[in-house]
Amino acid sequence: MAGRVAGKVALITGAASGLGAESARRLAREGASLVLTDMAAEAGAAVAAEIGSQALFIAHDVTDEAGWAEVVRTARERFGRIDVLVNSAGVASEGGPLLEISFESWRRILSINLDGTFLGMRAVAPSMVETGGGSIINLSSILGKVGLPGAPAYCASKGGVLMLTKSTALELAPLGVRVNSVHPGFIETPMVANVLHAAENGNEMRDMLISRHAMGRLGVPREIADGIVFLASDESSFMTGAELVIDGGYTAI
Ligand SMILES: NC(=O)c1ccc[n+]([C@@H]2O[C@H](COP(=O)([O-])OP(=O)(O)OC[C@H]3O[C@@H](n4cnc5c(N)ncnc54)[C@H](O)[C@@H]3O)[C@@H](O)[C@H]2O)c1
Repeated sequence: MAGRVAGKVALITGAASGLGAESARRLAREGASLVLTDMAAEAGAAVAAEIGSQALFIAHDVTDEAGWAEVVRTARERFGRIDVLVNSAGVASEGGPLLEISFESWRRILSINLDGTFLGMRAVAPSMVETGGGSIINLSSILGKVGLPGAPAYCASKGGVLMLTKSTALELAPLGVRVNSVHPGFIETPMVANVLHAAENGNEMRDMLISRHAMGRLGVPREIADGIVFLASDESSFMTGAELVIDGGYTAI
């Protein structure tokens, strides 16, 4: 199959929804075979079914270390290699501001967003090294670069992903594995819809968020997925340890 990532095998976490699901669709369209994982088994299997026989779905919680070994083993059995890892599983800023958040909520957000990314890289990188290299793409956020009041755990987790990416990029560059982070602005996905829905002043909050993007709108999943296809492909062959900011101008202000 022709395409920008033809012949590559991509493993995507959080593939049942939002940016993970859209990245899966676009990587498939560009010729990749896919291993999709998510805790949401029914929705994840539906995305794989929609893509067709080039996609395999495995139910997995990214915080489950033993499960990661199983995911890599199953992916290698089916496709022989893993060329691309997209760490997209994540949760938003439920838990609240510093003066309200419980330690349990703090740890849950850090565990999924940061530990999950760490565990994924540690499980998949050896396979990439063994088969000649690869590209790891970690979903950070603009909130890994600038603060948002009321979201200490989310901001800390995404700042952690940014620096975890840079350190790992330096370590793995000599081994042929590139590692980059993606920093979306606010994107129209179920994650953002749920946060707005749960807020008392959801409409006002939405207007406020829109006003913070210089382009005067939120992004759509395709705009992030296209960046992910670029990082997955050999078009980005000289990029590692970099921050791909796709935010409609949010951080330029
Ligand atoms: N949507 C945005 O505006 C935005 C902006 C910046 C960064 N991001 C980041 O992009 C990534 C994807 O976000 P999205 O908007 O697509 O969210 P989403 O809620 O639509 O999808 C996230 C997926 O992750 C899965 N997930 C959650 N916890 C998991 C776990 N422990 N193990 C396995 N899967 C788990 C969910 O089931 C869901 O399918 C996240 O890391 C998010 O923080 C999103």
